[in-house]
Amino acid sequence: MKFGDGEKGFAMLRVDRVECGYGPFTALRDASLTVAPGECVCIVGPNGAGKTTLVSNIAGMFTPRSGRIVLNDSEIGGLGAEKVARLGVSLVPEGRRIFGSLTVEENLRLGATVRRGDGLADDVDLALTRFPILRERYRSQAGKLSGGEQQMLAIARALMSRPRLIMIDEPSLGLAPLVVDKVYEVLLELRNQQALGMIVVEQSTARIADIATRLHVVRTGRIVATLDGDEISSSTALDDAYFGFGKGHEQNLGH
Ligand SMILES: Nc1ncnc2c1ncn2[C@@H]1O[C@H](COP(=O)(O)OP(=O)(O)OP(=O)(O)O)[C@@H](O)[C@H]1O
Ligand SMILES: [Mg+2]
Repeated sequence: MKFGDGEKGFAMLRVDRVECGYGPFTALRDASLTVAPGECVCIVGPNGAGKTTLVSNIAGMFTPRSGRIVLNDSEIGGLGAEKVARLGVSLVPEGRRIFGSLTVEENLRLGATVRRGDGLADDVDLALTRFPILRERYRSQAGKLSGGEQQMLAIARALMSRPRLIMIDEPSLGLAPLVVDKVYEVLLELRNQQALGMIVVEQSTARIADIATRLHVVRTGRIVATLDGDEISSSTALDDAYFGFGKGHEQNLGH
C-alpha cells in the first residue's frame, strides 16, 4: 500500500476508514487522516463527538472494528497501548491523569519506561529546561500542582518516551485562559520541531488556529469537514466548518 505525502513530507501515521465503538455502540465511522513529521493535525468537535475514541484507538487502547491504523509501515490498530507506545506514539490523555501521589520527578521517570534507559538524566534535564515550573516543583507531589502545572507535567511526561508522534487530548480542559496561553506556547514550540508529528484534540476552535497545520471537525462520530493551510486562519471558514453554516446562523444551533 502506497501512502500519500503529507504537506511537509511522507505521512508517518495513516488512519484509513476506521470504525470504532464500544460493544454494540459505534462511536466513530469512516475516519481517515494522515500525519507527517512536523505537522500538527487538530481534531475539533463537541462533547461526545468521538475525538477521544479516535486518539485512544490510535494509541492502541482499543481494536478498531474495521479500517487500518498504520504507523510508518506497521499496522498498529489493536496492538495494545504499550506496544504502540514503544513504536513512538505518546498520548497525553484527557484530564491529564498524572500520578498525583508521586513526585514530579517520579512522574517524569515513569514516562521513560517504554524506552531503553540511556540518556534518561539528559531527558529529565531537557524537560526541566523546557518547563521551568517543573524544576521548581521537582520534588513536590504531582497532585499538589495547579491544573496548568499538571498539564505541563503530563506533556513533559509524554515527551520522556521520545515519541515520533504525540497526541494531546484537550490540553485546555479546565484551565484559565492565561494558563491555556502558556500551554499553547509549549504546543507551538513542539509544532516547530520538524521531526515530531502531533495530533491535538479540542472541543472548540478558539486556540487551534495558532498551531494547526490541518484541522478535522468531528461531529457525531464522523469527520464532517477538513481545513488546510490558510483556511484555518480564516475565522469565517473555521465557523463554517465547525457549525456547518455561514456566520449569522449560529443562533439556530443552540450552541
Ligand atoms: N468506554 C466507553 N464505553 C462506552 N461508550 C463510550 C466509552 N467512551 C466513550 N463512549 C461513547 O462514545 C461516544 C464518543 O465519546 P468520546 O469520548 O470519544 O467523545 P469526545 O469527542 O472525546 O467527547 P468530549 O469532548 O466530551 O471528551 C460518546 O457517545 C460516548 O458516550
Ligand atoms: Mg474526549
